[in-house]
Amino acid sequence: MKTYLVTGGAGFIGSNFVLYMLKKYNDVKIINLDKLTYAGNLENLKDVQENPNHIFVQGDICDKELVTGLFEKYDIDYVVNFAAESHVDRSIKEPEIFANTNVLGTVNLLNCAKNAWERENGWKEGVRYHQVSTDEVYGSLGETGYFMETTPLDPHSPYSSSKAGADFMVKAYFDTYNMPVTITRCSNNYGPYHFPEKLIPLLINNCLNHKDLPVYGDGLNIRDWLYVEDHCKAIDMVVRDGRVGEVYNVGGHNERTNIQIVKTVVAYVHDNVDASVTEELIKYVEDRKGHDRRYGIAPDKIKEELGWYPETTFEVGIVKTIQWYLDNRQWMEHVTSGEYQNYYDKMYN
Ligand code: NAD
Ligand code: DAU
Repeated sequence: MKTYLVTGGAGFIGSNFVLYMLKKYNDVKIINLDKLTYAGNLENLKDVQENPNHIFVQGDICDKELVTGLFEKYDIDYVVNFAAESHVDRSIKEPEIFANTNVLGTVNLLNCAKNAWERENGWKEGVRYHQVSTDEVYGSLGETGYFMETTPLDPHSPYSSSKAGADFMVKAYFDTYNMPVTITRCSNNYGPYHFPEKLIPLLINNCLNHKDLPVYGDGLNIRDWLYVEDHCKAIDMVVRDGRVGEVYNVGGHNERTNIQIVKTVVAYVHDNVDASVTEELIKYVEDRKGHDRRYGIAPDKIKEELGWYPETTFEVGIVKTIQWYLDNRQWMEHVTSGEYQNYYDKMYN
């Protein structure tokens, strides 16, 4: 039995990871620590509510006493840190909370893990701290080239700068204490349980409700999209078999301009759901401040070393995703009405 401390496991990727792991393995126990900020949603986890291998703890990764207590109570083998403030637009308005959670929260987790795992002559056998990072730490690309693990970090937004700060702290724990750590840097994810402040779920929700589709700037910024389950698979592989102290880029070579994404979603909804939804809903709005132009990941290292590859093409993944939101309209209604925030009481009281 391997015990994971998963943080941020009620958010978009974290909940997909928890569901993925508990479906795949019977010998995995997950302690899921999540503060339940606006982005945390226990409804994402209702399929594992009764699973004895899933233990949910509401709390803050910055809380030293709480995290120390979790290491004392459970024999934790792996930490997988998803917990973060994750939205770039919010970071532009409110940078402080990004520094607190993303940088100081990471340092607290590293420190509590170090206290629990460090031995006189090294480290407890088989333990690992894994940091879930982002391609945004590399900055922005021109028309050609890709982010490699060796690309110098050059973050621009308060969000990406806080994630880069966290990555440097993880590296410091490896360089200074030889702590067994790994980092993955992934491109833009999409799929089920994605909070509708982010582009793809926002577009789907707005199309279904005949609302404007806001496109920042000229709509020609490029993101490299990866289906969330492929990201979960990559993290699982890196935590188990990645080389200690290493960074692995994760991405599926699925670059699209934002306007291509908007038109794809509109076309699908128009053809399959509601013919009155058309490109007339598209509205060009003021650009994001410091908007990174292009992200593109070179995932060669994880492919070559661990045999990871993305199973879901964008064409398949986007249809699966839109269909998931159509099949789970209540999930979106609960999120947009705020009802999901009452779910803790419903699940645990
Ligand atoms: P999200 O915003 O959907 O979820 C974040 C989760 O963290 C929420 O459940 C929230 O309640 C929790 N959280 C926030 N602050 C906390 C705190 N102080 N203590 C405990 N829990 C806290 O984010 P996401 O999109 O699922 O991203 C997860 C991680 O993956 C983040 O670290 C993000 O930087 C990284 N990442 C995201 C993407 C993407 O496309 N979404 C791509 C690459 C990397
Ligand atoms: O690259 C990985 C990152 O991807 C993660 O680290 C972040 O946590 C995650 O939020 C995401 O960041 P982005 O800023 O790329 O995602 P977002 O969905 O906010 O925006 C995607 C693109 O779409 C970006 O170029 C801005 C644009 N956009 C976004 C919104 C919300 C619009 O044009 N209109 C919108 O309404």
